Amino acid sequence: MAVENLIIFDTTLRDGEQSPGFSMNTKEKLRLARQIAALGVDIIEAGFPIASDDDAHAVRLVAEEIRGPVVAALARCNPADIERAGESLGPAPRSRIHTFIATSDLHLERKLRISRDDCLQAVTDGVTQARGYTDDVEFSAEDATRSDIPFLCQVVETAIAAGATTINLPDTVGYCTPEEIEEFFGEVRAAVAGADGVVFSAHCHDDLGLAVANSLAALRAGVRQIECTINGIGERAGNASLEEIVMATRVKPERLPYATQVRTTELVRTSRLLSELTEEPVQANKAIVGRNAFAHEAGIHQDGVIKDRRTYEIMKPEDVGVESTLVLGKHSGRHAVRKRCEDLGFALNRFEVDRVYREVIALADRQKSVEDGDVAAIVSRVRAVADSPAADRGAA
Ligand code: KIV
Ligand code: ZN
Repeated sequence: MAVENLIIFDTTLRDGEQSPGFSMNTKEKLRLARQIAALGVDIIEAGFPIASDDDAHAVRLVAEEIRGPVVAALARCNPADIERAGESLGPAPRSRIHTFIATSDLHLERKLRISRDDCLQAVTDGVTQARGYTDDVEFSAEDATRSDIPFLCQVVETAIAAGATTINLPDTVGYCTPEEIEEFFGEVRAAVAGADGVVFSAHCHDDLGLAVANSLAALRAGVRQIECTINGIGERAGNASLEEIVMATRVKPERLPYATQVRTTELVRTSRLLSELTEEPVQANKAIVGRNAFAHEAGIHQDGVIKDRRTYEIMKPEDVGVESTLVLGKHSGRHAVRKRCEDLGFALNRFEVDRVYREVIALADRQKSVEDGDVAAIVSRVRAVADSPAADRGAA
């Protein structure tokens, strides 16, 4: 089966950073940009330079230092935005201006208060101006999935004619289902002159919890770039989660035959750095990077994992940069208790396992989980009781 390249466009520092609670200072953005580059994404969207002097400064620092990924900056289709983006990206050896304008009638009439013709003119002017700074220009039609398709196709053709090399059609408000988004991209790509000469990109928001499913569905219609963020952060319910997209392609190559350059062993490190910098915890059961993603507590599961990890793990935890853990809690079984004791250096006989197991379960009823220190204390106590003269008398 032919494997095609999938471009991973990381927008953690732009769409992610602009959401409440996730703002970072310049130093923090640079630290995260280094880690995202180490992760191996193709493009880092470093910010929206017109938004503030700090944002412009951060984009400039990323452009000066980061090597490997293309560095992108966001700009509306207007001269001041594009000039600021172009200047901020100046030091980057490979830069991309990402310029956008809304295309749905709702946004044109109610938000921008401009006509469709004004919109088309802004696209031509914006993309042409951006091409004056770099050959790599991405055009986004904001609220694309709620736009009138014939008009959207006109906008896309206009952007391509003006020199856009990537066409991004965002599901800005997370309104689509996977079937719809596949049809949507298929229809636009079939209707637009010049579609084969550009890369189509999906940028899906997660308002209905479908951002990852929608992004993957878009691949079936010829999309070859996905815009996503670490931990799925972003406006409102967030963007498609980078770690979920990448691991889906690794775990299911027969269904998703797309190659990315991402070093998956860096995924958890990147997720934790973002969480540390923003002081926003990752939901415990978050796929791939949540602290429970590879934790097994139920006795039946622990027994299976001890015998063969594949019984309850569809990917190796070390492939994403963590170790699998057997959590000792009130649902744990004897096998898991014995295994944890062995890992801690205690070789227990059958009677000891039994006593330690009962004490672990009793403790787990009082506190949420039982840590290594608790297990060690229980083992010492059980052994002390077993060694005591009273125990000897009892045994006699
Ligand atoms: O969600 C969106 O439409 C965006 C664009 C600016 C790309 O973030
Ligand atoms: Zn967005």
